[in-house]
Amino acid sequence: MPVRKNVLVTGATGFLGSHLAYRLLEQGHHVFALARSSKAAPAIRRVEDTLREVAGSDEALQEHIAQLRVIEGDISQADLGLNETSKREIVSSADEVWHCAASLSFAEDDRDEIFRMNAGGTGQLLRLVEQIPGRRLHHVSTAYVAGNRPDVAMETEIDVGQTFKNPYEESKCRSELMVAEAHRKGLARSTVYRPSIVIGDSRTGRVTHFHGVYAFIRGLWAALERIRRKMPEGTVVHLPLRVAGSTSTTLNFVPIDFVVDGMMAVAAQETSMGGTYHLTNPEPTPNTLWLSNITRIMGVTGVEIVDKKSFDETPMTRLEALFQKQMAFYYMYLQGEPRFDCRRTAAALQDTGISCPRVTVDFIEKMMGWYVNYLAGKIPA
Ligand SMILES: NC(=O)c1ccc[n+]([C@@H]2O[C@H](COP(=O)([O-])OP(=O)(O)OC[C@H]3O[C@@H](n4cnc5c(N)ncnc54)[C@H](OP(=O)(O)O)[C@@H]3O)[C@@H](O)[C@H]2O)c1
Repeated sequence: MPVRKNVLVTGATGFLGSHLAYRLLEQGHHVFALARSSKAAPAIRRVEDTLREVAGSDEALQEHIAQLRVIEGDISQADLGLNETSKREIVSSADEVWHCAASLSFAEDDRDEIFRMNAGGTGQLLRLVEQIPGRRLHHVSTAYVAGNRPDVAMETEIDVGQTFKNPYEESKCRSELMVAEAHRKGLARSTVYRPSIVIGDSRTGRVTHFHGVYAFIRGLWAALERIRRKMPEGTVVHLPLRVAGSTSTTLNFVPIDFVVDGMMAVAAQETSMGGTYHLTNPEPTPNTLWLSNITRIMGVTGVEIVDKKSFDETPMTRLEALFQKQMAFYYMYLQGEPRFDCRRTAAALQDTGISCPRVTVDFIEKMMGWYVNYLAGKIPA
């Protein structure tokens, strides 16, 4: 029977944080979820609504609700915006902290805000962690702190002088440096996790938050729907759409259950203290494989990845220009991504039965098929 812990989780309304928080609840732990209220709903409702979605039903969530405490806070504020009582309670009772909250904006225009949330927020969190007797911190970063590295990014490296595609990557790298320094000084006992591109559940394809590749598919779906309205159901649509990218590069996809189970299995090992772990796919997926299969599932032909030079020869159509504008932030990853060495993670997970699934055609069908059915209204929202 594992020891029941009191765990502070940030980002529990988000994708990774909500799945992690729910898994902690399922394992019997007590979760303090630090979250913001929105104009429409208080923090407690936002967290409970998200966890209900993750759990799949209200009954499933209710089984664990007594172990959940939602605490109003904001990572960008002094003391994380906690009132004195909440702060005292966390400092005196939290056994460990999982930091998942972050801004996932890639926009250069949001640079200051991204740094305030990611680097600034990590700084605020570290000040709290120092005051918790155990000082145990699990910091969720991203494999893309590797930026534009042309070589293989190792789990032992952070800043090797790489440049970055966007302020998000740069701010996450800065956060890791802050965590490493706090660890070195003994102010935190940390482990850092670096997932790559997180997709839905490997068993069902189900997904609760629609970032990254899902936004790309949604954009394509919207373009298709405009044409489909005029056609009989089931017709394969020809949509001539060139997407600027590289046909020889890959994207690194990891399912949410692998990421959460993998992080928790690593975290349970004493030897993980002070280490950084790539939760990445040892076999990244060629752009040509995922795009051709997604378009097949969607019943569309004519979508292809082309070199930017193609647009010098034949100027962009209005649709191509619109799609490129909407997808600008994702296009940068279609030009190529770093390669990630994940041997330390593989070694840590060796005897746990947890491994990252290979992205085969069947796997893409399950994962993206679920989302296409969802967009088509065949799965209730
Ligand atoms: N999704 C991926 O593919 C992926 C891949 C690699 C690494 N990661 C890392 O995983 C972590 C979680 O990402 P995600 O995909 O779960 O992102 P997400 O769905 O956008 O969730 C972000 C979470 O952070 C919270 N947050 C943002 N600013 C906050 C603030 N000032 N105070 C309190 N909470 C704040 C958000 O709360 P609100 O709901 O109030 O906005 C939300 O709960 C991040 O550190 C990210 O870098 C994600």
